[in-house]
Amino acid sequence: MSERIFNFSAGPGVLPEEVLKQVQQDVLNIFDSGIGILEHSHRGKAYDRVLAETLEDGKKVCNLPDTHKMLFVQGGASSQCFMVPANYLPDGRTADYYKTGKWAMDSIAEAKLYGTVNVCYDGEPGRFKRLPESMSEVKYSDNPAYVHFTSNNTIMGTQWKEEPEIPSGAFLVSDASSDIFSQPIDLSKYGLLYAGAQKNLGPAGTVMVIVREDVLDKQCRELPTMLRYTTHAENESRYNTPPTFGIYLVGQVFKWILRQGGLEAMQKHNKEKAKLIYDAIDASGFYTGHAEKHCRSLMNITFTLSTPELEKKFIKEAEANGLDGMKGHRSVGGARASIYNAMPRAGCEALAQFMQEFERTNG
Ligand SMILES: Cc1ncc(COP(=O)(O)O)c(C=O)c1O
Repeated sequence: MSERIFNFSAGPGVLPEEVLKQVQQDVLNIFDSGIGILEHSHRGKAYDRVLAETLEDGKKVCNLPDTHKMLFVQGGASSQCFMVPANYLPDGRTADYYKTGKWAMDSIAEAKLYGTVNVCYDGEPGRFKRLPESMSEVKYSDNPAYVHFTSNNTIMGTQWKEEPEIPSGAFLVSDASSDIFSQPIDLSKYGLLYAGAQKNLGPAGTVMVIVREDVLDKQCRELPTMLRYTTHAENESRYNTPPTFGIYLVGQVFKWILRQGGLEAMQKHNKEKAKLIYDAIDASGFYTGHAEKHCRSLMNITFTLSTPELEKKFIKEAEANGLDGMKGHRSVGGARASIYNAMPRAGCEALAQFMQEFERTNG
């Protein structure tokens, strides 16, 4: 295959082509240093510049409040599932969790290793097709240490339209792995947000954390050095050898977002792209959307067809038409189109057209 095709994978997912072309050059020789980005010391001048630019551009992208710090850590978003409670859920205290899908359930399981978990909303009986529409569906505990939610449920295809209100005294924690920087965000509402890079930011393995400074002071137990947020905050995210290439690439994606017009432009582009596919679902009696309409994701569009055989055929033919990575997660079945920031509009147009044609010939 000599041409690039449309990649609808849920993650690692599509990256902007112009970023990948820049990476090709910088892997060989960055800043005319005669050395590629992968080969520079994390204490050297070239990496100093990479990190400084990444942080500066990252702050611009999200309008980072002065009260918050942007960090980069390793271990995937999955390590954040335990780092958050290890640092901030004291013995004998409760943290409240929204159970809205598999990743939320992973976070809940890890938090139980450290303290008490109150599931303040349980989406499981409804097969995770919906998120709460009003706070009357939510039951907070008395005085939780923090409230954790997953802003976009990658597998289910549901996304919060705005942050949940939380009890006073608690701080808000978000797993924003699959919709980070896909739309404007008011970070002043967050105590801590984390996002694995492999969907909207860059390569797998690098995790961006945004943490409010007063939350950093709340570490509640002795922990190994690498598991403390303060270690990373106090050492410019390079206490040890950081994932320099990943951080560099995230920096290139930040520059790309800024060139596109920032998060407002991302949101407009994402809404238009998602509409093409949701319209194709809604106009047909052939495809059934998994998520309820009020909480449909702009990033992961999940739908089923009438039989597993037809779904298999759909995915196979989509692939043959240059639309890759459409297979739904086994827990939901059907198909999933992940249309992260870097998915071009042309990819969504091609998919919508393919869906119409497939319906015409198989419906
Ligand atoms: C919302 C969400 N949280 C957490 C994870 C886990 O990320 P990682 O594989 O980087 O640990 C994923 C992975 O797809 C995800 O979509």
